[in-house]
Amino acid sequence: MATSEFARLPGFRDFPPEDFALRSHIQESWRRVSRRYGFLEYDGPPLEPLGLYVEKSGEEIVAQLYHFTDKGDREVAMRPEMTPSLARILGERSRGLSKPIRWFAMPQLFRYERQQRGRLREHYQWNVDLVGEAGVSADSEIVAIAIDGLRALGLTSEDFAARVSDRRLLVALLRVIGVEEARLPAAFVVIDKIERMPPEKAVKTLRTEVGLDEEQVSTLMGLLDSTSLDALAEGFGGDRGVAPELDRLREYFASLEAMGLADFVQLDLRIVRGLAYYTGIVFELFDRRGELRAICGGGRYDRLLELVGGEPLPAVGFGMGDVVLGELLHDRGLVPAYSRDLDYFIVPVTPALKNESLRIAQALRERGHSVAYALKEQAVAKQMKAATREGARTVLVVGPEEIERGCVVARDMASGEEREVPLSDFG
Ligand code: HAM
Repeated sequence: MATSEFARLPGFRDFPPEDFALRSHIQESWRRVSRRYGFLEYDGPPLEPLGLYVEKSGEEIVAQLYHFTDKGDREVAMRPEMTPSLARILGERSRGLSKPIRWFAMPQLFRYERQQRGRLREHYQWNVDLVGEAGVSADSEIVAIAIDGLRALGLTSEDFAARVSDRRLLVALLRVIGVEEARLPAAFVVIDKIERMPPEKAVKTLRTEVGLDEEQVSTLMGLLDSTSLDALAEGFGGDRGVAPELDRLREYFASLEAMGLADFVQLDLRIVRGLAYYTGIVFELFDRRGELRAICGGGRYDRLLELVGGEPLPAVGFGMGDVVLGELLHDRGLVPAYSRDLDYFIVPVTPALKNESLRIAQALRERGHSVAYALKEQAVAKQMKAATREGARTVLVVGPEEIERGCVVARDMASGEEREVPLSDFG
């Protein structure tokens, strides 16, 4: 059978060591930043009951599910996101946990996406969620973690920004404009897609699907372009529904300013988020040049835990994928050079010195060093070449004369310097 019949599925990745190195670089950084903020790591199963997503995730994700009937006739799905699993896990145990709950995970997720840059059919996603705190400080804390996750990888406010909105503010504004209650969901759907539509189509859709007249459309378009809370307050702050929403966002931005992160956040009412469960502040992180898809998305979802059958707890969190982030790091030259990183390569000069070499190798490994050697008899020159290929920092040459004198020769591969090391150093 031709090997092409076993080709990798579209949208899936192999991770040979040089690619795996980038994946670990990203994930180690995510883990470090999570711990800096006091978050604990958890995980769940990669396969879940189909119903968990059908009812909770919203249409877009449901259309992309990898699902099947298992041998026990259960309808199951590969997890396309982590949030419903988190809600289920906490539903079973949150009563015994002190609040707020600070948890993070780095699951591999599966979505049958249309192939496009930055979107694959599997990805790793850093999920950070704060559960049990309804106040706006939890919202600013969460976006700060997402921002720090990117800063820890070397990205700056020139590379990316968080665009922030609040679904409650948007609802209040839409009511002032005169959008009927029944049309609010339709308005959300249009606003969510508005950036990807030609302006004439946006106007037409707002008129036909949201029932707005020309003046209402132009007020709404103005709102969506507005980037300052003060401008919104001037136009709409007198409304009893709008004012408290503006105050909450003011506190949010003030906290981020106090944390030194003001340059990374901007108000943008076009951010709605496609997922069904968000109830409050929502945000997405984008590259400043606008070349890539969203790097990260999240927000407040105060009703999901209860919907999944748990304690009614407010929650806020985000998911950051490794695919767009990897592209951005490549574009900005922030992918660390791949190195094989071997501490020692051991070179026995004659086959008779094999066991002595193995003893030294093992003693070094016991102390936590990485050690390799040729696995068959080879001339010294060949072994030295192999040592270079393996990226060894030091080569230990085990020669008969030196062993007689109770030492080996250590060669520093970068400088070429050699010195004798007593065997007693290896225990
Ligand atoms: P999401 O917006 O669907 O949110 O995904 C979050 C991030 O995951 C995206 O911004 C993107 O970086 C990455 N991502 C999503 N789909 C793909 C894909 N097909 N290929 C590559 N990367 C992808 C959620 O999943 C929410 N559950 C996040 C959340 C956690 N909200 C609260 N807590």
